[in-house]
Amino acid sequence: MPAITVPPGVEGLASLTELPDATWLDRWDRIFLPVAQKDRLLDYVLFSLRHRGRVSQVGLPIHGLIVLSGPPGTGKTTLAGGVADQAARTLDDGPLLFVDIDPHVFPSQMLGESQRAVARLFERTLPDLASRGRPVVVLLDEVEALAVSRNRASLETNPVDVHRATDAVLSGVDRVARAWPNVTFIATTNYRAGVDAAFLSRADLIEEIATPGPEAIRSILADTLIELSEGAAHDEAALSRVAASCAEFGLDARQVRKLVLRAVCSRRELALHPETIQVADVAEALRSEQEAGALPVPAGP
Ligand SMILES: Nc1ncnc2c1ncn2[C@@H]1O[C@H](COP(=O)(O)OP(=O)(O)O)[C@@H](O)[C@H]1O
Ligand SMILES: [Mg+2]
Repeated sequence: MPAITVPPGVEGLASLTELPDATWLDRWDRIFLPVAQKDRLLDYVLFSLRHRGRVSQVGLPIHGLIVLSGPPGTGKTTLAGGVADQAARTLDDGPLLFVDIDPHVFPSQMLGESQRAVARLFERTLPDLASRGRPVVVLLDEVEALAVSRNRASLETNPVDVHRATDAVLSGVDRVARAWPNVTFIATTNYRAGVDAAFLSRADLIEEIATPGPEAIRSILADTLIELSEGAAHDEAALSRVAASCAEFGLDARQVRKLVLRAVCSRRELALHPETIQVADVAEALRSEQEAGALPVPAGP
């Protein structure tokens, strides 16, 4: 299903998509994280979308906000879409609306403007979308740009405006969450210390998404190789060795996949016939990255 066109003049919406969408399955299936963590995330979104409107806010205070926090390149943004797609499949009662907010359009604006833009988003745009009666998942990606910590912002050049914008986000999330139980917010952050404490305290769940360990890296490498050479058998022991080295260097999941790309682009015949790639090519790419000083020094014991 194609993404819905964002109406002109609506600021702050990066995209609108109706889910489930077959092309979004990868965003869940090919993001490797502990199974229990993915389950917890999906269960939360299912409960929130289906039951939040029925429970008393006193009996079970649930805000409709989950935060995915962790280093860049660990799958937070991708997984936010993936979990929404899975929820749409599981609920199976018509399309779910996935709303991707682009936080970077706000703080750069003139004094007072960002606060007004945030207010418009929460007072008009999101209620309009929610009033269609469908379940809605709103992604507040890189929320540190939107709900800037008021402590830290006091050092910035434009603190008053930033404070007001943060206030507008907090009251906006509160208002939308209260008035529209069909809406669930998923926020991501690469920099938890930069997110306002009051925003974090509203979260029903904060999931720490970690840099992958050797086992996860092994799965990611194998999955990336399958992308290029479906069905080809790869040297299992060699795969484990490369995965262990990647983990020692502290590569994040995105860097692991890019390492395979580096390997493909390192030789003309591989660039032309990537299906012939071997684990040894990836090991070689890691070695040359290391020699070029492009990798962090491995953490000591
Ligand atoms: N845990 C993971 N497992 C597999 N691939 C991943 C994982 N995390 C990231 N990736 C790869 O990196 C890409 C970018 O991830 P992204 O969701 O933007 O990370 P983040 O939002 O945490 O910075 C993904 O599309 C995927 O190819
Ligand atoms: Mg991201």
